Formats: sequence, structure tokens, C-alpha cells
Amino acid sequence: MKYEDLKGKKVLVTGSSSGIGAATAKMFAQQGCCVGVHYFRTQAGGEKTLAEVKKFSDGCLLKADMRDTKQVDKLIADFVKCAGGIDILVNNAGSLIARQNFADVTEEYYEDAFATNVKSVLLASKAALEHLKKTKGCIVNIGSVAGHNGGAIGGGIYASAKAAVATITIATAKEFAPFGIRVNSVMPGLIETRFHEQFSTPERRKKVAAETPLGRNGTAEDVAEAILFLSSEASSFITGEYIAVNGGLYMRA
Ligand SMILES: NC(=O)c1ccc[n+]([C@@H]2O[C@H](COP(=O)([O-])OP(=O)(O)OC[C@H]3O[C@@H](n4cnc5c(N)ncnc54)[C@H](OP(=O)(O)O)[C@@H]3O)[C@@H](O)[C@H]2O)c1
Repeated sequence: MKYEDLKGKKVLVTGSSSGIGAATAKMFAQQGCCVGVHYFRTQAGGEKTLAEVKKFSDGCLLKADMRDTKQVDKLIADFVKCAGGIDILVNNAGSLIARQNFADVTEEYYEDAFATNVKSVLLASKAALEHLKKTKGCIVNIGSVAGHNGGAIGGGIYASAKAAVATITIATAKEFAPFGIRVNSVMPGLIETRFHEQFSTPERRKKVAAETPLGRNGTAEDVAEAILFLSSEASSFITGEYIAVNGGLYMRA
């Protein structure tokens, strides 16, 4: 057991039908947490993650389109009903959706990218707030290195949305701190998940690995480790911060 204090915590991980969310849900279960596994389009992935969770702990499977207020309100209410409260909210659901250059970008894509990556964080945080006040819980948002460096070609709108996730993290951290709620984020670099199978060529992934100081791309578990740290008592005096998990791809002073 890495973090004794996480045992018995009630954790909702959005977008845990795949990739980073799936690895995070499993890792929380290994700490003895009750885990809400959430999916939208990939039910089989959600079922697979729940089966992994149940090897170690308890959990439930929940469906919602994170762009939709009513569905997100119901997601939070259903998780609270199933788990008996909420201690940790991991706002992980997100996607590049497609690559579009600014010159060709459609209004529909812009709306979708911001709803999927930013509105989702706002809606879930807002719906969970009253419950998190009771537990003095915490929120971990998943941003991206793209929010700092503008992303790769065709990923600029997604990068802009992820920059907003960085700012919403700081703003909610300030607003929620008086309630004892911490809010932090993790900024992954290139992580080998379905995301890059969908949106990057094998050549680009290889090139990024070669350019990365630590000489490889990340794994979903690399990111999950940082999420667990930011959810545990080990980070009890940290709020409004981010941890970059990128092998040194993007460093700042
Ligand atoms: N992989 C990377 O290199 C990387 C880098 C930086 C940041 N990130 C961020 O990390 C997070 C996880 O990405 P990943 O790499 O694990 O990708 P992934 O394997 O494609 O997983 C994305 C997850 O988000 C969910 N999701 C997408 N749109 C949704 C919507 N409208 N409503 C509800 N759920 C939705 C998906 O659910 P369904 O499939 O069930 O619909 C899936 O569970 C995302 O926020 C992503 O932007 C990833």
C-alpha cells in the first residue's frame, strides 16, 4: 500500500473506460478506494476497468456525456448514491477529437473541443462541490503539455482548451480552499494510449520519444502515479499547482 490514507476513499475517475483514466481507476482500487468508473461511448472499456477495480476493491460503472449538464449532475448524484459520498474527483475525460488547423477550423469543432475538455471540468467540479465540502476532498484535473506549448499542428484548439484547464485549476483552487478542498492538475506529455493511436502517426510518436530527454513516451501508469500523489495526504499543502509528467519534454524554471 503506497498511500495508507487513501484506503476507503470514494473516488470518481471520469473517462476511465480507456488509457490514463483506466490505469488511474485501477491504481486507486489497489489502494483500497471505492472507484466510480465512468464511460461515455466505450461501454466495453468501462466494464473491463470495473472488472480490474473489483479485483482489489469496490466500485460502480456510470455513463455520461461530460458535455451535458444534466448527465453530469446525474453522474455525480449516482456516484454519491453508490459510494456514499465523494472524496476525490479526477476530471480526466477529454479528447483532441480531430486535428484541425486554425485556417480551417469549424465553429462546431471549437465548441466540441471546449465542451469536451473544459466545460466537462467545470460541470463535474460544480456538481461535486457540495459533496466535497462535506469530506474536505480534492480535485485533480488532467491538462496537457499542449496547454503550455500550443500542441502539434492541428492541435491548437485542443491546446487552447487545455490551457483553460490549467487556469480553471488555479481559479477553483482559490475559490474552494476556504472549504478545505484542494484542486491540482497533471500535465501529461505524449502518453501511449488510444489517444495517440487515433491522432498521431507511429512516426510522430517515435520522433517525440527521441526528442524527450528521458528517451521514451509516457505510460498511463506514469500519469496515474502523479494523480494519486495529488490526491493523497502527501500533498496536503499543495493546491492550485500542476505536475508535468512528460519525461522532460517541456521544462520551465
Ligand atoms: N495520451 C496523451 O498523450 C495525453 C496527453 C496530454 C493530455 N491527455 C489527456 O488525458 C486524458 C485522458 O486521455 P487518454 O490519453 O487516456 O485518452 P483515451 O484513452 O482516448 O481516453 C479518453 C477518455 O475520455 C472519455 N471521453 C472523451 N470524450 C468524452 C465525453 N464527451 N464524455 C465523456 N467521456 C468522454 C473517453 O470515454 P469513452 O471512450 O467511453 O467515450 C475515454 O474514457 C484526456 O483529458 C486527454 O486530453 C492525454
